[in-house]
Amino acid sequence: MLYIKSYSLKKNNTFGIDCTADNFVIVHTEREAAEFFRKAGRAKEEVFIIGEGSNLLFTSDFHGTIVRSAIRGIRNEWQDDEFVIISAGSGIVWDSFVEWTVKKGYQGLENLSFIPGLTGAVPVQNIGAYGAEAGESVVRLSAVSTTDGTKRIFENHECGFGYRNSVFKNELKGKYLITRVFFRLRKNPHYNLDYGNLREEADRLGGPSVQNIRKAVIKIRRSRLPDPAVSGNAGSFFKNPVVSPVFAGELKKAFPGLPVYNDPSGGRKLAAGWLIEQCGWKGRRSGDAGVHHSQSLVLVNHGNATGADIYRLSEEIRKSVKAKYGLDLEREVEVLGLI
Ligand code: EPU
Repeated sequence: MLYIKSYSLKKNNTFGIDCTADNFVIVHTEREAAEFFRKAGRAKEEVFIIGEGSNLLFTSDFHGTIVRSAIRGIRNEWQDDEFVIISAGSGIVWDSFVEWTVKKGYQGLENLSFIPGLTGAVPVQNIGAYGAEAGESVVRLSAVSTTDGTKRIFENHECGFGYRNSVFKNELKGKYLITRVFFRLRKNPHYNLDYGNLREEADRLGGPSVQNIRKAVIKIRRSRLPDPAVSGNAGSFFKNPVVSPVFAGELKKAFPGLPVYNDPSGGRKLAAGWLIEQCGWKGRRSGDAGVHHSQSLVLVNHGNATGADIYRLSEEIRKSVKAKYGLDLEREVEVLGLI
């Protein structure tokens, strides 16, 4: 276990916000995590679990302890002719795990290529892209209680997966550190190419295969989304709103260009990026806080923006979307701090 006092978080959040945590702890094994939380529980210090900080906005210094998993190891847990169950330590960088599965020819995670973050954060956020969601492949996960260090297994149905949502963002928020995630992957082709121009891109690369889908997804993401190493960002800042079919129909009548998708809940999902662009925000900036020039759902730190600057910009955006469309945009990014 590594324990650092007064730790700068600038390199631990992809917005590149300069702030400090009172304490920063890295746990390398499940046992270390259990031991830490047994003691931390007693001390009652405020604890926050971080991954790569790719979905976070710090608006002030963090007075407490930030814990990061460095639990590693990829294991083949079970297989038959059709499926394989692979487990991955929560501290593995997500995309290096996806790359490993694709090299093995296992199908299921290729659409989720090139998403920043650690594997342990994947079920918390139920990451999704290009028609796939992680929750579809997660069979179970193991976790350690942050209150007393006890171990618990969560089966898929206990994770409460929804659109960018899980039980770990709601009633169990902050209550568990995920140590290992178990994925059920296919050994045989079963591709998901229906989103946007994914099929077209995969065809251009020689036809659908897990390798080509991964390449196509990386190409599309690179062309649409900013690289956090160049301009700080946390991917989509807002969720795409899910509304009733009736309300979506009314909006579509008034704004025929609005992209509307069917949502598994029976509602309709609207493209928040389009709504924000139509309010005139695309590419705008206020000091060093800005809206990305080709994807309005992404807010960027052009240099020295504070978390509060980004937050204020997000509030302005929410206000204008509310005024024009009567819709409340919900933040996807988790805001930490005093605001
Ligand atoms: N659009 C605009 N203007 C914009 C942005 C988007 O008109 O500024 C339109 C696009 O032309 C398209 C529609 O909105 O018709 C959807 O855009 P896109 O395919 O880029 O996807 P998104 O809905 O904006 C979601 C996820 C992304 C994920 C992509 C691809 C959310 C909140 N975001 O974005 O996830 O990569 O789909 O599946 O669901 C993330 O969560 O951080 C993230 C990047």
